Amino acid sequence: MIHAEISVHAERTYQVGVAEHLPELLRAATWTQPGRRALLVCNDDSAPFAADVENAALDAGMEVSTTRLPRGEAAKTLSAASDLWRECARAQLDRGSIVVAVGGGTVTDAAGFAAATWMRGIDWVAVPTTTAGMVDAAIGGKTGINTDAGKNLLGSFHSPVAVLCATQTLASLPRADYVAGLVEALKCGFISDTGILELVTASADSLLDPSSSALADLVTRAVRVKAAVVSADFTEQGGGGALSREVLNYGHTFGHALEAASGYLLRHGDAVAVGMVFAAELAEATGEARPGLAMQHRAALAALGAPTAHEHDDLQPLLHLMSRDKKARGGVLRFVLLRAPGHPVTADGVKLAAVEQAFTRTRESSP
Ligand SMILES: NC(=O)c1ccc[n+]([C@@H]2O[C@H](COP(=O)([O-])OP(=O)(O)OC[C@H]3O[C@@H](n4cnc5c(N)ncnc54)[C@H](O)[C@@H]3O)[C@@H](O)[C@H]2O)c1
Repeated sequence: MIHAEISVHAERTYQVGVAEHLPELLRAATWTQPGRRALLVCNDDSAPFAADVENAALDAGMEVSTTRLPRGEAAKTLSAASDLWRECARAQLDRGSIVVAVGGGTVTDAAGFAAATWMRGIDWVAVPTTTAGMVDAAIGGKTGINTDAGKNLLGSFHSPVAVLCATQTLASLPRADYVAGLVEALKCGFISDTGILELVTASADSLLDPSSSALADLVTRAVRVKAAVVSADFTEQGGGGALSREVLNYGHTFGHALEAASGYLLRHGDAVAVGMVFAAELAEATGEARPGLAMQHRAALAALGAPTAHEHDDLQPLLHLMSRDKKARGGVLRFVLLRAPGHPVTADGVKLAAVEQAFTRTRESSP
């Protein structure tokens, strides 16, 4: 049974399907056509799901080639992209062909980028197999790879023609990766859909079971939030008012600094979790939000098994990293804060004393 279909309005309108089993979503696919050439891109972890896609495409009479990327960020290098372009050539992909990315955010980012650049852009489909991929990376049309100068610096806005989220694929995902994606879903609750916060409060244990209907509900709700934001502000111009794409950056300013300070050893989702607690403390410290917001963040994150505190003694290096963040404007610190859950605002020029207070209160030994 298909749990939900969500429309995203970008350079074209496309559907994000959510179901428990991948074959259900594949049966409803509109991009499978007899004779159409497809390049399936996966990695060792997502290969079993790529096999399901291959069977469906072959049943539909498509000509299918498969290639594997290395695990993790190694998929998002220039040399991995060159390998993908070579595979596009070997598979004789033409303008009518399609790339199907099956995997986590690294696979969908890299394969989407190959599709965006091959012959100036051909169709692609995202089949995310991580929680972060389903609620974040595969939604929104940002594709890209890393360079020595930084993450995601080479890329393109190039939306897929469809996104297939099969929650059954999450059963093999390591717990830490699974929870990291739940943090991004919870973020969607704090910035927009407070029903997500109720779901986490009422059903945190069920959410840790990928076959639960609670998890399918969470993925659906989080996808709806990201789809609405992206539909209002596809290329991040800020034109969507309250729904500017910048709100998706909630928790990311401090989170990115923590990630960078760890030499990227800290998991992105863990960094964002602590970054959201920091942002809530900052909202309280500036008087933007009423007391209690930070505790609400801690309770929800702890229920999902996500971290809520950092271990840094010195704010200065993190301040430096935050002012270099690509979302900072002219070196001025800029944060997404909440007036209350569901009511994000952007704050420029926040006073240092408030940042110091939030930093201290988010440290490990604080309440
Ligand atoms: N394009 C965007 O808008 C956007 C948004 C957020 C993040 N991202 C990107 O997404 C990437 C992170 O994505 P991620 O968290 O999915 O990481 P990932 O792709 O590295 O996946 C995490 C790990 O899980 C493994 N894996 C994937 N599916 C599995 C499964 N079903 N069972 C077992 N193992 C599985 C992967 O091989 C990897 O080792 C980053 O590169 C980030 O920049 C992009």
